[in-house]
Amino acid sequence: MLASTPLLLLTLLTLTSAMYVPEVRLPIENRTFTSSAVDDFLSSSQKSFTNQNLHRLFTNTLPNTLDTTIFSYDLGTDTFIITGDINAMWLRDSCNQVLPYMRFVGEDEELKGLMKGLVKRMSKSVLIDSYANAFNFDSSLSTDHADDVRTPPMSNLTFEGKYELDSLAAFLKLSRSVYAEDHEVFDGDDMYVTYLNAVNAVTDTIRRQQMSTSEEMESKTGPAYTFSRFTTEATDTLMQNGKGAPCARTNMSKCMFRPSDDATTLPFLVPANAMAVVELRETMKVIISQLARKADTAHINPYPIIDELKYLADEIDEGIQTWGKITHPITKKEVYAYEVDGYGNFVFMDDANIPGLLSLPYLGYVDKNDPVYLNTREAVLSEITNPFFFKGRAGEGIGGPHQGYGMIWPMGITVRALTSTDANEIKECLEMLVDATAHTGFMHESFWKDDANDFTRTWFAWANSLFGELIMTLMDEHPELL
Ligand SMILES: *[C@@H]1O[C@H](CO)[C@@H](O)[C@H](O)[C@H]1NC(C)=O
Ligand SMILES: *[C@@H]1O[C@H](CO)[C@@H](O)[C@H](O)[C@H]1NC(C)=O
Ligand SMILES: *[C@@H]1O[C@H](CO)[C@@H](O)[C@H](O)[C@H]1NC(C)=O
Repeated sequence: MLASTPLLLLTLLTLTSAMYVPEVRLPIENRTFTSSAVDDFLSSSQKSFTNQNLHRLFTNTLPNTLDTTIFSYDLGTDTFIITGDINAMWLRDSCNQVLPYMRFVGEDEELKGLMKGLVKRMSKSVLIDSYANAFNFDSSLSTDHADDVRTPPMSNLTFEGKYELDSLAAFLKLSRSVYAEDHEVFDGDDMYVTYLNAVNAVTDTIRRQQMSTSEEMESKTGPAYTFSRFTTEATDTLMQNGKGAPCARTNMSKCMFRPSDDATTLPFLVPANAMAVVELRETMKVIISQLARKADTAHINPYPIIDELKYLADEIDEGIQTWGKITHPITKKEVYAYEVDGYGNFVFMDDANIPGLLSLPYLGYVDKNDPVYLNTREAVLSEITNPFFFKGRAGEGIGGPHQGYGMIWPMGITVRALTSTDANEIKECLEMLVDATAHTGFMHESFWKDDANDFTRTWFAWANSLFGELIMTLMDEHPELL
């Protein structure tokens, strides 16, 4: 008994210090953007928390994108948002970075202008290169990836030319999310025409990528997209001289890189297709609503666009339901596959990035209680069926090939909490997330399963925004957990 007392004390001390979260927001004068609505909300949020570590982490993370990543803005005209420690704008990241601010847009004119500028910038980016995942601020900035060999050729604004279906879905999601809070976002100049042209570019690209490999080889122009990089990293380039693995027609749309920017193993990435279905349908609603507002379309007929959004979404959805579900060979249950090729081959795993299998309800594709989702969830949260689910002394969660074996991604833990219906599971996720900050006060990209101090990316704004979103969701749904 006596001998164990110091040990107990030591354990208590370790636990207490492990839970400590410092306040690390930049001083006001150093922030890249200030939203009075977000700051007012943060000041008044204290009363919602009994757990002060969670509160500090929330006040650090929620405003991190505004505080640190607004590289350039001209309200209502242009907004360029970097991911954090990389000086480029990802379509996917920038959309996710600002999603938690949508609820404040109606009460903050400057924030509204910032979002309108981002919708404009993204529309133009999609029109410049609909196959790119990330863009430079301007063409004077050299890209790290100019040596990549790609069809179609990259523009001088392309930071990286990896084709990821969810980059296009992210543009649609950002636009419809801003529209929901600000029906005037497309008004003025040629903004709505630019947006509709960008939507057309999105549907054209997605439709082109429905082609099977044999259809592409037989077409006069060949494959619409190929990508090769001279690299030692197999996941940074595509097999078969940049064409990727062969596939048959499924009516899903190909996606050559995952949201982690790693190459897909098989071209039909099911979660990205699920996100596309949701966002094509939401975009259709925006354009119908604009018709009711008698918005000026300046000689663009919106009806064919509405039809195309509907047919494309329905086709992809049917493709997912026909080809994207499998009976898992170990659990013998019906699950969504991560990737398929239309020949009966599949990859079952999950990657912590969004869109992923775990995030399907968060994306709005299925209900949290959908039986096939629940089977899928059980399998991706298991070391037996997901090669990228890890458990260690520092926590448990999904990772992915991008940072490698044994590295757990906090974002996956956040998604687990966002998609859970079990208060105890959410509570455990919150505890792991606080620990995963390793006293830095911010979310990281990944951490070693046995030691949260061994982490990647000190400045990863998307992970911070997503955590802020989780906390705001819990304020509404589970205030007792805060
Ligand atoms: C804030 O900005 C000032 C002036 O540019 C600079 O000296 C200071 O180091 C910055 N502080 C932080 C925490 O970045
Ligand atoms: C970038 O490309 C555009 C369009 O092709 C061209 O007009 C512009 O001069 C280029 N800028 C630079 C710096 O190369
Ligand atoms: C793809 O969709 C079209 C239109 O709905 C349908 O005619 C065709 O049979 C579908 N193809 C496959 C492989 O499901």
